[in-house]
Amino acid sequence: MDLVSQAKQVLVGGVSSPVRAFKAVGGRPLIMARGHGSRMFDSNGKSYTDYCLSWGALILGHAHPAVSKAARSTISLGSSFGTTTKPEIEIAQAIVKRIPSMDKVRFVNSGTEATMSAVRLARSFTKRSKVVKFDGCYHGHVDDLLTVAGSGVAGLPTSSSKGIPPEHVGNTLSLPFNDATQLAITLDRHWQDIACVIVEPVPGNMGVVLPLPGFLKTLRALTKKLGIVLIFDEVMTGFRSNPGGAQADFKVAPDLTCLGKIIGGGYPVGAYGGRADIMRHLAPLGDTYQAGTFSGNPLVMAAGLATLKTLTPAVYKKLNDHSEEFVKATNARLSGHEVPARLVNYQSMVSIRLSKDPVHNYTQARAAAFDPVYARLFHHLLQQGVYWPPANLETFFISTRHTPKDLNHLSLQIQKFLLQSNL
Ligand SMILES: Cc1ncc(COP(=O)(O)O)c(C=O)c1O
Repeated sequence: MDLVSQAKQVLVGGVSSPVRAFKAVGGRPLIMARGHGSRMFDSNGKSYTDYCLSWGALILGHAHPAVSKAARSTISLGSSFGTTTKPEIEIAQAIVKRIPSMDKVRFVNSGTEATMSAVRLARSFTKRSKVVKFDGCYHGHVDDLLTVAGSGVAGLPTSSSKGIPPEHVGNTLSLPFNDATQLAITLDRHWQDIACVIVEPVPGNMGVVLPLPGFLKTLRALTKKLGIVLIFDEVMTGFRSNPGGAQADFKVAPDLTCLGKIIGGGYPVGAYGGRADIMRHLAPLGDTYQAGTFSGNPLVMAAGLATLKTLTPAVYKKLNDHSEEFVKATNARLSGHEVPARLVNYQSMVSIRLSKDPVHNYTQARAAAFDPVYARLFHHLLQQGVYWPPANLETFFISTRHTPKDLNHLSLQIQKFLLQSNL
């Protein structure tokens, strides 16, 4: 029996996380065996240029020598101590130095834990219950935040999950992203009950959506005025385009920031942190409880630290420039042929819209998503040795290890497919 069939016997749908099952694009999910640089190799030895990159975690590509070295030398010292360790202190120092809005950090094991804990802390700090989020943003599978959510949840009816008691989402208000008027009306009406607003500053879970000029600044001004905690979920954008995150690019400082993906160097991680006066409400200093057996695991911390150290301004510049050139060149190719498709990017976070209409929110993102065409494009690319996200409303990522040749191949294959498809 092949590995996929074996997986299906013992793992739900053959996977440990839903989008990996290829439900949105059809076909048999892949089982990967190893990765190196921009490439990964499946269990049959076939190689793929990887633009999924463990959902954005692998900004330095697979098995980067500096990251592997740090992980190897840490592992030989023991795996977990249940105490604070030096790599944990060092990476926390590196994070607070690079992200000035973060005075203090707490490490957890996933982005989901980070957002869940940040919301709890905001509720404790403000003594209020309601949470405002935005349609199409995904903050992990936290009960209170799984409503009108993007990413894999977008494939389920109403973009929500069964099994969540109504009282959990009863305190959650989900608003259209980029609509400052609706935001102002809602905050004005409910502010006395609103603990926090949580947002992906540049959403990547409904494809890439850029914030309209002034939207994040308005959000900051309103929340500050009304005593509402502003949480930036930078699990995807954190350390992606520069050392300071999207908050540095858009010059908006949130009260709390959630991190994940890149800061683990490819190992399981999450973190949240921010203003010292809020963070001190967290146990052991305060009485807001949150804990974890493996939190701050030294292997993860060492791999993450090696990643952050490797990401110098020069490395970011090269990555961002390559990404920009790739998107421009691809869009020039597509527009020359009047194909209703284009790439949208925030530096090295990129997605494809199968439409020429602008996309500023989730409703527009869904309208610009032609799932059957995306599924065929996905399989065309797979045949050409390119792996990118097996669902339409996801983002694909470029790493520091993708070469101009890799990117040119992807660009040509997108064009070739779209021209053949007669869209
Ligand atoms: C913006 C954002 N927040 C939170 C999460 C959840 O992170 P994790 O999958 O590590 O729980 C994700 C995952 O993709 C994400 O993109």
